[in-house]
Amino acid sequence: MKLLLYFLIITLVGRNEGNNHFPHFRKLKSRATASVQTAAAQDVVRRLIPDRAEEFNIQVDPQLAEGDKDVFTLVTDKVTGKINITGNAGVVATWGFYHFLKFHCGCHVSWGGQQLNIPKPLPVIEAPGHRMVSNDQFRYYENVCTVSYSFVWYNWTDWERQIDWMALNGINLPLAFNGQEAIMQRVFTNMNFTQKDLDDFFTGPAFLAWFRMGNIQKWGGPLPQSWINDQLVLQHRILRRMRSLGMIPVLAGFGGHVPANIKKLYPNVNVSTLTNWSQFKPPYSGTTIINFDDPLFAEVGRRFIEETIKELGTNHVYATDLFNEMRPKSSNITYLKMSGAAIYKGMVSADPDAVWVMQGWLFQDSSFWKLPQAKALLTSVPMGRMIVLDLFAEIRPLWQKYDSFFGQPFVWCMLHNYGGTMDLYGDIESVNVGPSTARSYPNSSMIGIGISPEGINQNYVMYEFMLDQGIGPGPKNIAEWISGYAKRRYGVENRYIDIGWQLLRGTVYSCNKTIHDAHGNVVFTGRPHLNMKEAVSFVTNHF
Ligand SMILES: *[C@@H]1O[C@H](CO)[C@@H](O)[C@H](O)[C@H]1NC(C)=O
Ligand SMILES: *[C@@H]1O[C@H](CO)[C@@H](O)[C@H](O)[C@H]1NC(C)=O
Ligand SMILES: *[C@@H]1O[C@H](CO)[C@@H](O)[C@H](O)[C@H]1NC(C)=O
Ligand SMILES: *[C@@H]1O[C@H](CO)[C@@H](O)[C@H](O)[C@H]1NC(C)=O
Ligand SMILES: *[C@@H]1O[C@H](CO)[C@@H](O)[C@H](O)[C@H]1NC(C)=O
Ligand SMILES: *[C@@H]1O[C@H](CO)[C@@H](O)[C@H](O)[C@H]1NC(C)=O
Ligand SMILES: *[C@@H]1O[C@H](CO)[C@@H](O)[C@H](O)[C@H]1NC(C)=O
Ligand SMILES: *[C@@H]1O[C@H](CO)[C@@H](O)[C@H](O)[C@H]1NC(C)=O
Repeated sequence: MKLLLYFLIITLVGRNEGNNHFPHFRKLKSRATASVQTAAAQDVVRRLIPDRAEEFNIQVDPQLAEGDKDVFTLVTDKVTGKINITGNAGVVATWGFYHFLKFHCGCHVSWGGQQLNIPKPLPVIEAPGHRMVSNDQFRYYENVCTVSYSFVWYNWTDWERQIDWMALNGINLPLAFNGQEAIMQRVFTNMNFTQKDLDDFFTGPAFLAWFRMGNIQKWGGPLPQSWINDQLVLQHRILRRMRSLGMIPVLAGFGGHVPANIKKLYPNVNVSTLTNWSQFKPPYSGTTIINFDDPLFAEVGRRFIEETIKELGTNHVYATDLFNEMRPKSSNITYLKMSGAAIYKGMVSADPDAVWVMQGWLFQDSSFWKLPQAKALLTSVPMGRMIVLDLFAEIRPLWQKYDSFFGQPFVWCMLHNYGGTMDLYGDIESVNVGPSTARSYPNSSMIGIGISPEGINQNYVMYEFMLDQGIGPGPKNIAEWISGYAKRRYGVENRYIDIGWQLLRGTVYSCNKTIHDAHGNVVFTGRPHLNMKEAVSFVTNHF
């Protein structure tokens, strides 16, 4: 009864709250039919629990959606004895399935392992059953750096498991960045760049995250042709799977970075040199970017998106990060507006429905990005044609400072991890209140939650807790949630495990002061010393 009431309340609240004002987003839908999505969701279940899959009746019914919000229902069918799980998309049905596994069967599925001791027979959910409505339209996943810290050597087996995990957690807006070098190679080859030009441009596989943002080039290269080709094949499989589950994969956009000798081919083009990034120097950094007011900028952008669509199809969402950890050469408002407009123009001239996804990370450089500068970039494209990722919202949220990003839709993301470091930490209190506070801000333009870790396979508890903010009321009773988590994780109820986890909750997972991992300030990776101050960093001369 209590449960039923609880779900009724969520449903009622869900109807009124957070109606977003971005009708264009209705175009961001998977074109996979309900039956394709049903089959894809059933396959996730079969891969996870082959022996018990027949006890679940997984269905997709697009009519279930409530406006922009996702809906799943759970009910036991007395005739068949199966659990009926229906969602308005494949990914929503699998989300419902994992919800049932977690909260009714006490199971746990994480990046690193799983606890799938499912009760037999399955728990019964009496008619009329449970109906859950998502809090937002989107659940976003990945940081543009995750590829380099965690995914670079992933093959299809790894990706399949990763996408299954996304589906189980309701993630419907995943980054899908593989294979973009194949597209870029085609675009530049068609523009008559030589393979030598590209060998001096592409980095090696492990550094592509920073290459794609124009931070570095050539480092660790040349990029083997076999890599370029294989990643494209992989990308086709990844996209087919994501789309069949009803997800909206976010493809790569063009950020203006070109091989350094562009003037050889286009003597009249106006280009600039970006700043040296981190401790890299030319020829590895100080990359070349076409000037925003040069028509070639949007022209290459158009070619890039056209080639992307021709090869991969599209769901109209493209991610590009300008000025990542590199200051623009001017803080002039007109200049910054022009930069965003050039990116957008390239996108929409190839795809009139394009939406630009941008990590809000650049704005953390607050001495450059004052309110007028941020506003200039954020309003350089029409409202609702950009999605800003408030990337590090659990520690340094920007949505308030920038007045809900001046009306552009944004996703409240927990970044949490830098560089894939393995120390135990997290700000669970902030994650508990942050999303619901941002959602209820007057005229909030929040459209989703997300996780944007630089590296994965650490602190699973934080990601599970964050993704639970996508559904049900917040804030939650953290102590209770942690007890449930510990029970699910180990598959047993044990007083001492619970005490241990409550200690972790109040200590390492209550890190609310600053960035609690600073690239290696971890005792066991530090140089032995009585006064541990110095971090062992990635930079070799620190060793
Ligand atoms: C379960 O789903 C089946 C169709 O797949 C339907 O016939 C049946 O009525 C459903 N049961 C309940 C209790 O909704
Ligand atoms: C992927 O790599 C793993 C080892 O890391 C291997 O077991 C698996 O068979 C590979 N999958 C494919 C499709 O090659
Ligand atoms: C590229 O090469 C083709 C064929 O040689 C030529 O027609 C075209 O003008 C060249 N384009 C550029 C930008 O050099
Ligand atoms: C980048 O580093 C090189 C070599 O130290 C230097 O000559 C150049 O001026 C730097 N570029 C910028 C934009 O600071
Ligand atoms: C390049 O810049 C110069 C000087 O600002 C300008 O005269 C010229 O028209 C620009 N060229 C292009 C192709 O935009
Ligand atoms: C910004 O740039 C525009 C166009 O180049 C120029 O007209 C304007 O005076 C500049 N504004 C400032 C404050 O420098
Ligand atoms: C919210 O939007 C409405 C309609 O655009 C406007 O009248 C109102 O002032 C806004 N409220 C706030 C707090 O910005
Ligand atoms: C940080 O957490 C501690 C312990 O939960 C709490 O007492 C303190 O008020 C928190 N500080 C901030 C700034 O939230």
